[in-house]
Amino acid sequence: MNRLAILTSGGDAPGMNAVIRAVVKAAEHHQLSVFGVQNGYEGLINGDFYELIYEKVENIASKGGTILKTSRSAAFMTEEGRQQAVHQLREQKINAVIVVGGEGSFKGAQKLQQLGVPVAAIPGTIDNDLAYTEYSIGFDTTLNTVLDCVRKIKDSGCSHNKTTIVEVMGRYCGDLALHSVLAGEGEIISIPEYKLSFDDICRQLKKKVQDGKSDNLILVTERMYDLQELQRYIEENMQISTRTTVLGFVQRGGEPSAFDRVLAAKMGVEAVRLLINHQSGVAIGIQNNRIMHVSLAELDEKTADKSANESLLHVLLS
Ligand code: F6P
Repeated sequence: MNRLAILTSGGDAPGMNAVIRAVVKAAEHHQLSVFGVQNGYEGLINGDFYELIYEKVENIASKGGTILKTSRSAAFMTEEGRQQAVHQLREQKINAVIVVGGEGSFKGAQKLQQLGVPVAAIPGTIDNDLAYTEYSIGFDTTLNTVLDCVRKIKDSGCSHNKTTIVEVMGRYCGDLALHSVLAGEGEIISIPEYKLSFDDICRQLKKKVQDGKSDNLILVTERMYDLQELQRYIEENMQISTRTTVLGFVQRGGEPSAFDRVLAAKMGVEAVRLLINHQSGVAIGIQNNRIMHVSLAELDEKTADKSANESLLHVLLS
């Protein structure tokens, strides 16, 4: 193997640039050439590649977003699109691909592997929704952003004795909201894994108010509720002033945290090492503070065990 490509795909995540930097460094160390693919799988189909040299990427680890750009490619979901991507890789004599992204991007990586292209996948998503790894790159930075925003929102909530609903991202995974509460921000939480009804929320709120807490923050994961309806329900049933803030894309931007940068470096170097050793069709992760990998083919069957969190929340929010 002497020519490698790297692409970033799906929603951007802080730390993707740090992966690119690490991969280029590791590749140069092993005398491999690296090609950056523009716009994720779209660029693979269009043959949009350019050579990356370390001198050009050595200062990108602290930048948010991805210098390669990213997309959610509908064309790559078709057999024709994938065949075209493989054709482009063969034309450019590229022997292996590193994919940085989330669940959908990993499915694409598995398809590429099935078509005979050696692939290593690195988890880069703010959602932390890949069950085989304890952390994905971007999650820690986003969590810190959420905590920062929530603290600011609380200043106002506290001054006005108001209840605030804060919606965070995460797609169908509650980790951003959950870890915010574990980190000490938020009085009530509703996430896809433990969804509360409007009445459950009001019941918990009532108890907080009875206990003398009047500036409660309700953290919810996106896509779960009509937030206007929830706000109205609380105001009508509890007679308390309530406001809603959707944090939105502020959560995806910004300088990656040290944790994400270090994780990106470790995973980037490991991806290159595995491919050189002819271990492909793998997803790289971290478990018990050790970098590990699993087969991409096994991923579909695994769901995260969150039972330990349930008892933690029970204690912390009581
Ligand atoms: O997967 C990352 C993420 O930010 C999710 O949290 C969110 O649901 C989704 O992407 C938003 O996607 P888009 O950028 O396509 O609006």
